[in-house]
Amino acid sequence: MSNPTHKLSTHSIGARKGKEKIVAVTAYDFTFAKLVDPLADLVLVGDSLGMVVQGRSTTLGVTLDEMVYHTKAVARGLKRAHLVADLPFGSYQPSVRDAIQSASRLLAEGEAEAVKLEGGEAMAETVRALVSIGIPVMGHIGLTPQSVHSFGGFKVQGKTDLAQKQILRDALALEAAGAYSLVLEAVPAELADEVTRTLRIPTIGIGAGPKCDGQILVLTDLLGLNPDFKPRFVKNFAPLASLVTEAVGEYAKQVRGGNFPEPEHCF
Ligand code: KIV
Repeated sequence: MSNPTHKLSTHSIGARKGKEKIVAVTAYDFTFAKLVDPLADLVLVGDSLGMVVQGRSTTLGVTLDEMVYHTKAVARGLKRAHLVADLPFGSYQPSVRDAIQSASRLLAEGEAEAVKLEGGEAMAETVRALVSIGIPVMGHIGLTPQSVHSFGGFKVQGKTDLAQKQILRDALALEAAGAYSLVLEAVPAELADEVTRTLRIPTIGIGAGPKCDGQILVLTDLLGLNPDFKPRFVKNFAPLASLVTEAVGEYAKQVRGGNFPEPEHCF
């Protein structure tokens, strides 16, 4: 049966491997979801919202209720792009039962089409359980921000031979457990290339070099909305912070000067 909504699915994302790059971006609300929908293949409601929407220093405080709320808003803005939602910290690690309950809420209430969770081999059993009951799972390995305190900061992973072997094992374990794709974050480009060539499922990189099957960036980074945050892997594709400052500055000037509203803005 064909997809009546023309939405990209886990299957169409998987079929891109080796053929066409996957364009992925985060979104957290309806307005931006609607804008990115025709341009991106995959939209992630990332728990990065804890940092870029809520102003926290890590993603750890984001709740499942908050993820459901933002996912619902993004879902309303998407007609074409595939929608993935992050399982937040603490909502899936305690038990497989917790993971099933949390992921079910993201799909049923949030209208996500898949969930993403962090971790490799240690999460394989959870991934297998979710996939077995019809919940598609995207993996996330390398720099997994929910483990920031174990890593001692947001640091590049996979720098030693041992760590590289573990990342490869993690990737294979997630694929074997049924994950349909995998985010590789902040790992050496050569390692990301090896993982990408080894796996049958697509890899989506962030700070993982050009050889991944797709790329993802946090939308506010891509748009240059936070010019103070400029790690090596981020490229600002637009200077939106200065455009916002300019526009709001001009609005303030016109209000203060009595130049806005003008007759055409009045009833
Ligand atoms: O939370 C997030 O936005 C993410 C992406 C950066 C991959 O996990």
